[in-house]
Parts: sequence; C-alpha cells; structure tokens
Amino acid sequence: MKISRTADLWWKNAVVYCLDVETFQDGNGDGIGDFRGLTQRIDHLDRLGVTCIWLMPFYPTPDRDDGYDITDFYGVDPRLGTHGDVVEFLRTARDRGIRVIADLVVNHTSDQHPWFKEARRSRNSKYRDWYVWADKPPKDGPKGVIFPDKEKGLWTYDRKTRQYYLHRFYRHQPDLNITNPEVRDEIARIMGFWTELGLSGFRVDAVPFMLETTGQADAVKLPDPHDYLADLRAFLDRRGEQAILLGEVNLPYPDAMEFFGDEAPELTLSFDFPGMQAMYLGLARGDARPLAATLRERPLPPKDGHWATFVRNHDELTLDKLSEAEKQEVFAAFGPEEDMRLYDRGLRRRLPPMLGGDLPRVKMVYSLLFALPGTPVLFYGEEIGMGENLAEEARAAVRTPMQWRPGPGAGFSTADPKTFPARLAEGEFGPDRVNVASQRNDADSLLSWIRLLVERYRETPELAFGDVEVLDAGADAVLAHRASVDGRAVVTVHNFAGTEADCTIAGLPDGVWHDLLDDGDTEVTGGEMTLRLPPYGCRWLRSDGARRSPV
Ligand code: GLC
Ligand code: CA
Repeated sequence: MKISRTADLWWKNAVVYCLDVETFQDGNGDGIGDFRGLTQRIDHLDRLGVTCIWLMPFYPTPDRDDGYDITDFYGVDPRLGTHGDVVEFLRTARDRGIRVIADLVVNHTSDQHPWFKEARRSRNSKYRDWYVWADKPPKDGPKGVIFPDKEKGLWTYDRKTRQYYLHRFYRHQPDLNITNPEVRDEIARIMGFWTELGLSGFRVDAVPFMLETTGQADAVKLPDPHDYLADLRAFLDRRGEQAILLGEVNLPYPDAMEFFGDEAPELTLSFDFPGMQAMYLGLARGDARPLAATLRERPLPPKDGHWATFVRNHDELTLDKLSEAEKQEVFAAFGPEEDMRLYDRGLRRRLPPMLGGDLPRVKMVYSLLFALPGTPVLFYGEEIGMGENLAEEARAAVRTPMQWRPGPGAGFSTADPKTFPARLAEGEFGPDRVNVASQRNDADSLLSWIRLLVERYRETPELAFGDVEVLDAGADAVLAHRASVDGRAVVTVHNFAGTEADCTIAGLPDGVWHDLLDDGDTEVTGGEMTLRLPPYGCRWLRSDGARRSPV
C-alpha cells in the first residue's frame, strides 16, 4: 500500500487532487454529486496515481459561497451524504493507499451558524465574543475588500445589538475571533474530530486572515498569532498520523515564509502563488525568464516543508502579484474578453481554453507542474483538459461537473442537467469532446500524458527531494533546471515558445543522458548538453551514471 511505502515525508512527493464532492459524481441520481458517487470513482484517481485527495468543504451550508460558509463544522451536508458515507469513502481511499485532507474554513462561519445566531441575539450572549465586534469600524483595522461587487467594506452593522461585526469575505461570513481561547479550543476539537475519522490533515483556508488581529481592541495584549498556528500544528502532530497543514497564503515570498514557522513548525505546505503567476506571464510572452527569475528568488521552505505548486485552482486565476503592465499582458493573452476576468484581479478560466486547446502547449505546462520543485496539486478535470463555462457566475465558471463520458449528463449524473449544481462546460470543451472515457485508452491524450508524468515523478525522487538549481539554457524561451540527490541528477527543459528552440546547458557530467518521458538519449561531451526542442517541447533527462529508472 502506498501509505506505508511513502509514510516518511509523504507530502513531499505527493500528488494532490482537489475536488468538490458536489460536482464530481452523483451516486443517487438526484443531480448532485455525493460521497457514494465519489467512492465509486476512486479507481479513476488511483489509476491516475493520486496519493492525496483534498476535499473542498462538504459541511452543512446555506451554500452562498460554494460551501465555504459553514453552519456545522462537525457535520456532513445532507445533500452530499452522511457520516457513514464519509467513513466508507475514507476507508476505500485508504485501501488504495490514498490519503484524504479537507478544507478547514475557520476564518469565519456562515451567518446561519448557531454560534453566530446566538452571538447576535444580545451583547451578553455566551457566543458574543466568538466573533469580532466594534462600535465603529476601527481606523487601524484590516483593509481590502475581496468581493468588491458585493461588499463595500469589512464591517456590517448589526441593528439589534448596535455594533458592527467583522467579515473578511461576504457579510454572510462573520469572522471568528481567534483571540478567544474558547474559539481556539473549538478549532482544535474540529481538527481532532476529523483526524480521528481518518483525515490526514487540512487545506487551511485564508490563513493570513484567520490569524489577523489588527484593529482588535485588546489585540496588543494577545499572544503572537503565529504561536497559535504553531500550537495547531503541534496538536495535529500529536493527533494525526503524519497529518499536514496545506495553507492558502497568497502573499509575496518573504511574508509567506513566515507561515512555515520560525522556531516551531506551522504550515507543512504552502501554495506557491507568485510562482504560478510568473508561469502565466511566461506563457503569455513565450519566454521562460519570468518563471526562472521567480524560482531563483523563491526561498527554501524549512527542512520538511514544501511549496505546493498548481496550474489552476477552484478560485479565479489571481494575477495580483504581477505589476499592472504584466497583468494586462496576461489579460490580453488569456482573457481578452471582459467576461473572462474576475474584477481587476484574475481570470475565471481553465488552462486549455486559455491556450486555445493547443495540446502540446497544455502538455508542456503539466510537465512543468510535475518537474519543478514543489508538491503538485491538481484541480479535478485538469487531467482531461476540461474548460470553463462562462455562463456560470464569477468563480463558478471553473466549477462545472466532472466530465466522465459523452452525453447529456456527462456520466456525472443520470438526472436532468438542469438540476446539477452548475451547468456543464459546452462546445469544444464540453463532455462530448472532452471526457475520461475517450481519453483512457488513447495513448496521445492528456489523461495518458498526466498518468505518465505522475508515474515518472513518483519514480524520480530527485524532483521532489533533490537540491534544485535553475540552469542557463542559452535560450530565453527555455526553462532548464537540475534536481540532484545523492549524486544523481535529473535535468528538465521546457520550451515556452511556439517555435523551435536550441539550447545549450553547461557544467553537466559527460556521458549519455536518457529521456524519462520518451525514448531517446542525449550525449553530453565537454560538460555540454545541446538540445533542439520542438515548439512547446519538454524533456526530462537522467544521466547514465544513474539508472534509467529506480524501479
Ligand atoms: C478562500 C477560498 C475561496 C473562498 C474564501 C472564503 O479564499 O479559496 O474559495 O471563497 O476562502 O472562505
Ligand atoms: Ca446525489
């Protein structure tokens, strides 16, 4: 079983797959995905080589933010199943050697959560201090409205109790007060509950916002929020079997680094938002230099930590770390129509439509995802190249149901598609053109390519565990890197341009280097490797000094 084989630092060469139970597979024909359906589909994930499933929120919810507005952290949304179904699913995943983590959304609750209902009943309520209240929005309070079309500020007035409450996100998502020890205890209890049921950790939602205490009257007297995150991690280390915290920290590198912990460990994995954005800038320009520069400046996480790398996630493709001019370049290339963008910040599209369905180019991007240092995180449907449906509102455009087969319900459900949580993608990227069934046995499909990448990535420990160096490839379009461990080295090259590229890499050991993704050899003489890459070509090469494959 994979779990026992990879138990040590399993997260460092994991293949994480994010899915929303609601849109993955309907198991009872009511049009809504559920745990029974997901359990039936687990072999698809096993064949793909997924080692860790990240479940988006599946808790009871009024569903005004796709489940990120929770009314019971210990519950299961009845539309998706029962605790019994969750346990069956966890057991089946474990049987395939697949770990499961889930979203931990404790920056806020739904305004329908019993705690908040109680809190807003009166200023003396037992739960009053579980949330953040103020007579007037404080001047030194947190800044930045996340959904500017829906919210004007971060504080909403509660008429009955005549105070404002803080909400980082929508007004129906009041922020919990993590400075309150009762809230802290409760968060630990929630984590304890789900690890006891078998979860291997959490994707922690909105980490910086969750820890933020600026503007709270007595915040100065309170302990450092980082100590709190370290406490949570220590709790998890005691309770979970090598459980992890995968954090959403969309900040520049120096700030993001703080969340890995300084004296004591905090996050295990943290999403590489700057790297992702530099990659899109490079793709827009057909030039690898923006990503090369970003990787060179990317700090190393602490010993057992790792960056989590991704191409797309369930939110908009945010471009907030690029300069205004760079962002406009990416918009022009991948989101020329206003409807493709979300606010002034990002794109509500998936990769293949952005690249005009150019398969070699799409394949090159996923090769990068698995080759570059960091734990790769896939968003469901990426393995077959699903597209978006812009008819869905805002971020929901990329959250359409999984496409298993051609036909009206796409194999997702036998119910009338009108009852689905979101419309299916249509046209060139709709289920008739893009689906698992037709790609499974097609050696040239994206699905087969991703399976190959996963297999090689898992067989090539240099990539996940090695020392990494970005190399000079002598061609602006080409990103080259070397990953070495125990005297073994792998070199990968990726051509960002739609034209052939000649590259030369110096300083390598002489001898024959073998292709890991294809049949082929390259001779290195005088320490130099010269390669001609086709448009969007990519290669992974291992020197003859080492075996072709460790298996
Ligand atoms: C995170 C999630 C996003 C959600 C928000 C509020 O940013 O990724 O989908 O809307 O938190 O919970
Ligand atoms: Ca269902």
